[in-house]
Amino acid sequence: MEDSIKKVAGYIAAAKHVVALTGAGISVESGIPPFRGKGGLWEKFDPMEVAHIDSFMKNPEKVWRLLISAMKDLLVSAKPNAAHLGLARLEELGLLKTVITQNIDGLHQMAGNTDVVEFHGNFAWLRCLDCGSREQTVEVELSQMPPKCECGGIFRPECVFFGETIPPKELDRSQIAASTCDLMLVVGTSAVVQPAAFMPVIAKQSGATVIEINPEPTPLTGTTSTILVQGKAGKAMREITAEVERILADKRQL
Ligand code: APR
Repeated sequence: MEDSIKKVAGYIAAAKHVVALTGAGISVESGIPPFRGKGGLWEKFDPMEVAHIDSFMKNPEKVWRLLISAMKDLLVSAKPNAAHLGLARLEELGLLKTVITQNIDGLHQMAGNTDVVEFHGNFAWLRCLDCGSREQTVEVELSQMPPKCECGGIFRPECVFFGETIPPKELDRSQIAASTCDLMLVVGTSAVVQPAAFMPVIAKQSGATVIEINPEPTPLTGTTSTILVQGKAGKAMREITAEVERILADKRQL
């Protein structure tokens, strides 16, 4: 087993309060493309054109047609992969308390994590711009674009567009989690979007160890994060979780 896997498993097994920050990379092995890098959505679309609140309000049909309907098909069929299941297992073992995710796919909750902060909202619900009523995305027919509420108002997804602020409750929960953990696992994020990418900095400033799992280094690597497990999250989390279980089993036998 790779040294970094053993080392990271040792840190996790000894930790009192682990928090994870995840990004699109953790869901790549569930068939959901990332935003940046190889095969990223932002290689095809300009995020300011299709994911900014101003472009949505100016032309909701275009945003629904270009981005949201494609996302709906992906999200309706996506399932948690070994990386999500590994984080859920770490919660079952009493080690991981909170997952702060930038993802809107709901896969952490589906995997079994019970304290998930959806930093950028989620795609599971739509909200009417006029009357505010909410519908589950899977329930809403997309034959008509943009989908409309019974009152005639246009539906928007409850995810956070560029140009919008992070919901205050989610931001507050994330800052508390980042400042009270003693270890933060940063999985599958390019760490370029603020304020999500500042959570590992808060953790580090509060004395936590920050560990990244990513095939590529990020702006956090070597400064905020002290270890980079360079690889895909599914394989890394499967190996790390197995090693954590082995360490805990050995401890119980002592
Ligand atoms: N396992 C782990 N990491 C992976 C994998 C994988 N199998 N595949 C790709 N990655 C890494 C990439 O190297 C990259 O660092 O995941 C990261 C994906 O980065 P982004 O696509 O930028 O996703 P994210 O960091 O979540 O973006 C943040 O930007 O566009 C906004 O709102 C959107 O929440 C998103 C935010």
